[in-house]
Amino acid sequence: MNNLRVAFVGCGGIGDHYLSVYRELDFVEVVSCIDANIERAERAVEALDGKPRAASNFDDALSPDVDVVVINTPNHLHREQAVATLEANKHLLLQKPVAAKVEDAEAIVEAARRAKQRGVVSGLYLSYFDQPLMHDLREMIQRGWFGGVAHLYARLMHRGGIALSQQVRNGQSNWRASIELTGGGCFIQLAVHYVHLFKWMMGARVERVMAMAKNQHCPGVEGEDLACAILEFSNGALATIDMAWNTAGEQLSIHGTRGTCEYIGNQTLMLDSLEGDFTGYVVNYSGASSQVSPAAPGAAAAQQVTTVIAPPLGDWRNKFNQHRVFLEAVRDGREPFVSIESGVDDLRVVNAVYESAVSGCAAEVAHS
Ligand SMILES: NC(=O)c1ccc[n+]([C@@H]2O[C@H](COP(=O)([O-])OP(=O)(O)OC[C@H]3O[C@@H](n4cnc5c(N)ncnc54)[C@H](O)[C@@H]3O)[C@@H](O)[C@H]2O)c1
Repeated sequence: MNNLRVAFVGCGGIGDHYLSVYRELDFVEVVSCIDANIERAERAVEALDGKPRAASNFDDALSPDVDVVVINTPNHLHREQAVATLEANKHLLLQKPVAAKVEDAEAIVEAARRAKQRGVVSGLYLSYFDQPLMHDLREMIQRGWFGGVAHLYARLMHRGGIALSQQVRNGQSNWRASIELTGGGCFIQLAVHYVHLFKWMMGARVERVMAMAKNQHCPGVEGEDLACAILEFSNGALATIDMAWNTAGEQLSIHGTRGTCEYIGNQTLMLDSLEGDFTGYVVNYSGASSQVSPAAPGAAAAQQVTTVIAPPLGDWRNKFNQHRVFLEAVRDGREPFVSIESGVDDLRVVNAVYESAVSGCAAEVAHS
């Protein structure tokens, strides 16, 4: 089979982190690096050993020698670039979130549906699926290791909004500071990861939300710098999702009737279950050490504590790497692991969160 020929669009921020996947995979060849800032495109060409061409105009991605377009540009550009890609019969991998607005995201899905009939594969890039642990946690939920899952928790916070605010106040523009271009503030940017993960792990959709959002520390940013939301799933479970751009920290927890998981700082994993020790379905947590857990009523006798570090975004050897997984799907004519359509539903949850934060009341998620 011939190599998949790739146009890489948006070589700045996040795009830079996974170029090595495209350099190392032996069935892939980047032919074009495109960035409105040509110096960034040229830097990417250098990282790819000088082989692709550099361009500053998106139209280069639609050239006849391109099979796959990878879009890493700001949210408000996704619709125009994604629809043009699909209409030109190129396979598409699109960065999350699908778009800044639900109607733009729906237009992309429509174009993807039409293109699929012509054999075009399109997918959404969600970096957390690179992490094997996420796949194990889903298995554990599905196989009942936690018993009935009553509650999930996610906290994803970084101080990027403070620096961004300073930048904007010093006269530099940035799309992330604009609600119009981003679709909101920290919540749309950060929460789509966990909203998607939790829906996927639970095999359930989100029905209703209650939320508060505010901006206290990032005056140069239009959107919220803190949002706290409670989600109710179709199976009755609740999730609390706290996202911020004004402080730091990350945690994922699963609370079930027979077991719990706390994963803190993307590093420390604490598991306990009445089912006994967990050794891993997709990874072997062989470094686990046992500790006596607090003697809470109904708690397991011991807690496993282990260090689990996510593979770097550019680790092409990681079989869960979502760029690799997508490219293999295109090569083999398979469905993508994450569909663009599933990402549109995440945006509907985000919209309901914003609606609730304004109204002060619970908001239903407007599923299509
Ligand atoms: N964990 C993740 O998966 C993750 C992390 C960060 C960002 N993102 C997403 O990736 C996308 C880009 O975010 P970022 O942080 O890299 O932004 P960024 O602003 O740092 O980089 C965007 C790049 O796109 C280029 N660009 C702008 N307009 C362009 C155009 N018309 N044509 C071609 N290039 C253009 C810019 O010059 C810049 O180099 C966003 O949708 C964001 O939500 C995802």
